[in-house]
Amino acid sequence: MASSSSFSAARLLLVAAALVLLQLASSDSEAAPPLPSGLSFDFYKSSCPQAESIVSSFLQDAIRRDIGLAAALLRVHFHDCFVQGCDGSVLLDKTRAGQSSEKDAPPNVTLRPTAFNAINAVRAIFDALPPPTSNVTTLLRFLAKIGLDADDLVSLSGAHTLGIAHCTSFQERLFPEDDPTMNKWFAGQLKLTCPRLNTDNTTANDIRTPDAFDNKYYVDLMNRQGLFTSDQDLHTDARTKPIVTRFAVDQSAFFQQFVKSMVKMGQIQVLTGAKGQIRRDCAVPNAARADDDLPWSVVQTVVEAAESTVL
Ligand code: HEM
Repeated sequence: MASSSSFSAARLLLVAAALVLLQLASSDSEAAPPLPSGLSFDFYKSSCPQAESIVSSFLQDAIRRDIGLAAALLRVHFHDCFVQGCDGSVLLDKTRAGQSSEKDAPPNVTLRPTAFNAINAVRAIFDALPPPTSNVTTLLRFLAKIGLDADDLVSLSGAHTLGIAHCTSFQERLFPEDDPTMNKWFAGQLKLTCPRLNTDNTTANDIRTPDAFDNKYYVDLMNRQGLFTSDQDLHTDARTKPIVTRFAVDQSAFFQQFVKSMVKMGQIQVLTGAKGQIRRDCAVPNAARADDDLPWSVVQTVVEAAESTVL
């Protein structure tokens, strides 16, 4: 996933607006219009291959709840682009010193707050997750904010005993040259699956037993055969290395800690009692109760939750 700094608001706005159009249009069979040099339709393809699908599923959900959001996003994009180009400047609030911003200009004051909330919310989703290029220091700092520690980090990362990863999630360890912390044979195998940058190919997260939930992921790490930097660094950093070794030689120690950490993870910022609701349909908030806010307050809740966990 891309780091927060590489996610520009203007680009995100463009992706959002394009996806709104695609979702509204029944047919997108027309060829894409030509692009000037320096712009691309898949800017995040290597830094965050899931970017468009994340924005798309967020928007599908948000627009289903409030069809007005589609109109709001389209208009924001128009207002941004027609005034000094598409630079996301329409998203800027007035400065602390009170200097007014484009948002305060008369034509813009009727832009819907739902659009700004949605853009912030989807951006917060990106900012809220550590990328696979993270090292242990970054990950521990991130986890500390949500009450998790080194045991949790190492055991939860053990979920990579299952599943797959796209080449784009770890290709920076293969190109332009092999990451020296990676086992040479393993790098060679990965290059057979990922012969060049930005392929859509995938590989197993755990080469030893890809479909078994066991402790072989830690054996992979000890053999320098971890896929992501965020995996391999667990066996490099002195704070996590002993835990990796313990789990590699003692599967039941891993299982015990994994259960504890999963339960801990499942309790992060859970709304209890009257603060939350048990949804009847998981995909839709319960029909407006007397004390419910407008539908877009759900979006606001996502932003607030994500902001409190940002790196
Ligand atoms: C510690 C930080 C973590 C990072 C940086 C990270 C990163 C990633 C990445 C980049 C992928 C591959 C995505 C792709 O290319 O398709 C992935 C896959 C996966 N991750 Fe993580 N992950 C982390 C923690 C976790 C945790 C805590 C769990 C669950 C307890 C987890 C479970 C999984 C699973 C099961 C897959 C495979 C998904 C599939 O096959 O569809 N990961 N992770």
